[in-house]
Amino acid sequence: MSDKRISDAMENALNAQMMQEAEQAQVYLALGIWAETHNYDGLADFLYKHSTEERNHMFKFLEYINQRGGEAKIEAIPAPTDKPKDVTDCIDTVWKHEVQNSKAIYALTDMALAEKDWPTFNFMQYFVKEQIEEENLISDLRDKLSLATKEKTGNANLYSFDRDLNNAPQDSEIALQKTLGG
Ligand code: FEO
Repeated sequence: MSDKRISDAMENALNAQMMQEAEQAQVYLALGIWAETHNYDGLADFLYKHSTEERNHMFKFLEYINQRGGEAKIEAIPAPTDKPKDVTDCIDTVWKHEVQNSKAIYALTDMALAEKDWPTFNFMQYFVKEQIEEENLISDLRDKLSLATKEKTGNANLYSFDRDLNNAPQDSEIALQKTLGG
């Protein structure tokens, strides 16, 4: 596309966020490997899938930049450095990365607003919504993990109890079904 409809500054900022999403994908891949090699297969599966989701985010930025007449530029990304000491530390690391990413998304949305770049402002709404969902998802996991690891208060079994309830067969659908199903 030859007619460029984003500013140079916006093109650079979108490219930076595209690489940030690529970096997130690598971070989750590395954390997934940590989980798998420590025999947490469920967590590894979750993290590998999430890595793919981050790569899809990267691709959305790539497509958008090119569609607006800019050019997506693939740069080098640093190797992930997180070394979780346990599952809680691993989930806390995921949380930290998501909160950082939300801030970057909001900064880009602010920039689109300041430039009155309404197509980019509109494009960013997908990611604002996505970050709400991802923060909710990880926050829920932190709550469940906290419940599962509070041995002193006798709550260790509440986590599996809760999971069992979730999987228990029911004749009728509950009111929360829609929300729980995502
Ligand atoms: Fe691409 Fe987890 O945000």
